Amino acid sequence: MVNYLKITAKIRICNYEDLLSEEKNMVDKAKEAAFRAYAPYSGFKVGAAALMENGEIVTGNNQENVAFPSGLCAERTTLFYAHSRYPDRAVLALAIAAHTEGDFLDRPVSPCGACRQVMLETEMRFHCPVKVILYGKKEIYIVGSIKDLLPLAFDSVESKILPCTFE
Ligand code: THU
Repeated sequence: MVNYLKITAKIRICNYEDLLSEEKNMVDKAKEAAFRAYAPYSGFKVGAAALMENGEIVTGNNQENVAFPSGLCAERTTLFYAHSRYPDRAVLALAIAAHTEGDFLDRPVSPCGACRQVMLETEMRFHCPVKVILYGKKEIYIVGSIKDLLPLAFDSVESKILPCTFE
């Protein structure tokens, strides 16, 4: 008999018009930040906006480098900046948007594995789920917790496997 572990994640699909005004504001700020990205090598410009617990929104974008591994994604640039500036402030939500030559992606941009690990650390550090808003022109994904983007995540402190938040 073979046993299987079934992993599920609950992701809300919606449009810009369905968002709350605070969520729209975050998406707008992530889009603005994407235009300030430094991405001369890929041409793929990503912006992120982090909503801090005091209501402030911190933004960032991807920063590339001629020595490719030396660059950094928008999500990590934003979270590292937010935590370096406000080490005691939780992040409540993170919006991400990406475009090439000013044309934003139709489908939601999906964070890379390394960024998911860093986003999870933010959640664990402040004991506060981070809502993730992945922007696409045709649809937007809303995820209630990073744990849904990174099931079976490594967690050396707790030494246990982190479950998804749903089912
Ligand atoms: N990138 C991000 O900034 N965030 C993502 O979620 C995916 C990828 C960046 C890294 C690199 O500068 C460019 O997009 C192309 O991969």
